[in-house]
Amino acid sequence: MSENPFPNLHLVDHPLVQHKLSFLRDKTTQTPLFRALLREIALLIGYEITRGLPMDSTSIETPLTAMETPILRGRKPAIVPILRAGLGMAEGLAELLPTAPLGHIGLYRDPKTHRPVEYYVRLPADTNRLFILVDPMLATGYSASYAVDLLNRNGIDDGNVRFMAMVWAASLDECLNEKAYIVPGLGDAGDRLFGTD
Ligand code: URA
Repeated sequence: MSENPFPNLHLVDHPLVQHKLSFLRDKTTQTPLFRALLREIALLIGYEITRGLPMDSTSIETPLTAMETPILRGRKPAIVPILRAGLGMAEGLAELLPTAPLGHIGLYRDPKTHRPVEYYVRLPADTNRLFILVDPMLATGYSASYAVDLLNRNGIDDGNVRFMAMVWAASLDECLNEKAYIVPGLGDAGDRLFGTD
């Protein structure tokens, strides 16, 4: 289930991620635990997704001595959840990057065509930074590619886009069912996150 034939897909096969994912999948897991697990997995994947961020150094003084010490260079990445389910992961990422601006992309799936329909977009004004798109469920890929196109149209190059759950993901599942839901998957992640099923 987690073999990876895609060179751009980074599977985070850390034991903690896989353990938490098993509870996330379980249909008896209720909304409060589902929400907590999604946030925790986002923190763990966020650790990997931010590994290549550019660094600078700065001079500080410890209580004992002066020293040069590493800090992140430039603007903090922007976090952009795809509504609704992306909100659950954005929370975890925002804890790792507390000064990161948050954008929002609202898309719903047309139930017949499974194509994304845009209903809300708000992005940080300064687009010269890394953008981390967040959506726990990558099924047909229509929403993901729509969101990446939307960032491109707003002047953000592919090189500055990471997709959490696609490029950095917890698992590669088996297939989609006839409703384009991921199998084994989690079910409807938005409903489970917000208790609306
Ligand atoms: N969105 C979901 O919430 N679940 C899926 O399986 C596919 C898309």
